[in-house]
Amino acid sequence: MAASLDNGAGNGVSHLSAAADRVRFVLRSTDDPLAHDGPNVIRNFMTSPKSISSVYVYDEAGTELFERQCRTPEYYLRRAEAELLRRHAGDIVQLCEFPAIVELGAGTAEKTRTLFEVYAEHEARCDYYPIDIDTETLSQAAHALVCDFPQLFVHCLGTTYLEGLRALPRRTRCRLFAFLGSSIGNMQRQEIEDLLAHLFAGADRGDYLLLGADLHKDASFIDKAYNDSAGFGPRSTLNMLHHLNRRYDGNFVMDNFRYRSKYDPRLKRNEVRIESLAAQTVTLASLDFTMALAAGELIDAEIMWKFEPDELCSLLDRAGFSLVNRWIELLYRYGLFLFRRR
Ligand SMILES: C[S@@+](CC[C@H](N)C(=O)[O-])C[C@H]1O[C@@H](n2cnc3c(N)ncnc32)[C@H](O)[C@@H]1O
Repeated sequence: MAASLDNGAGNGVSHLSAAADRVRFVLRSTDDPLAHDGPNVIRNFMTSPKSISSVYVYDEAGTELFERQCRTPEYYLRRAEAELLRRHAGDIVQLCEFPAIVELGAGTAEKTRTLFEVYAEHEARCDYYPIDIDTETLSQAAHALVCDFPQLFVHCLGTTYLEGLRALPRRTRCRLFAFLGSSIGNMQRQEIEDLLAHLFAGADRGDYLLLGADLHKDASFIDKAYNDSAGFGPRSTLNMLHHLNRRYDGNFVMDNFRYRSKYDPRLKRNEVRIESLAAQTVTLASLDFTMALAAGELIDAEIMWKFEPDELCSLLDRAGFSLVNRWIELLYRYGLFLFRRR
């Protein structure tokens, strides 16, 4: 879409600054939301099996690798969700009566553009509240969006989901909470329940929730998606070690580790681990922490739950959200679910 403003901005420079005026940070809690996470990192390395929190996937390099993974032929999730949004965005926005949009884990907000296009077609103002721990990506995405959508006002919350939900300004109109990309599947069960409880508390009766979720299917589709031949999925996970090195003055040696991903159809979850290829010692100097890793030892890194539609709806129902409609992409079994808070 062409970047044009209907507020009288004449030349290119004033045009750009007018767009920039439509971006503000409501919250950038600390410039670094992981600034105090060191003790959690140590705790997770002291349990058996060892683990690394998936929040370490998303530094600047990790986000870039994830974006590239999303564009590989094997990674069906983004394409399937984008297709569902393309087909149903108009219905969703109109059914919710042109709501303010709050997005959890907005990232580059590439697919959310489909919703903004509906506002643009109707020349309707849209207030957008993206919440993302990766403040750099959030800021870049916000500035790109306002250039493309003259009716868009972006109120960034550069922080965690829970803190972002708590910091939302008072509601002035109906809101649509969007949680896309099957990000709900990347959380532990308890985290999902905590998040839904916060969502329920942060939303008002009558607000909507748009949830994108990958569904249980033949393991071969899933295994391919997380083992793409270009290697972006593996590199995005292994980048967690770079992230730890940079942040905590660590000495993980990349060649000493390997990516492992496998779908467990019984648990309906994909499990991503990092394997230590040799007996080795790793130090995170700024945390004053050293650990031994055995050859073949596996570090838990990421999980991706795949849902059955009815199970997911029951989970949401227990959390106080009633199903309004659901759309399933049949080839890859990916679902878009619209709920309403009771
Ligand atoms: C899998 S990406 C999805 C991005 C986008 N919604 C999509 O569908 O392509 C997850 C995004 O959530 C953000 N994120 C992950 N955990 C978070 C947390 N606890 N709080 C806030 N943002 C988080 C990451 O920075 C990343 O941008």
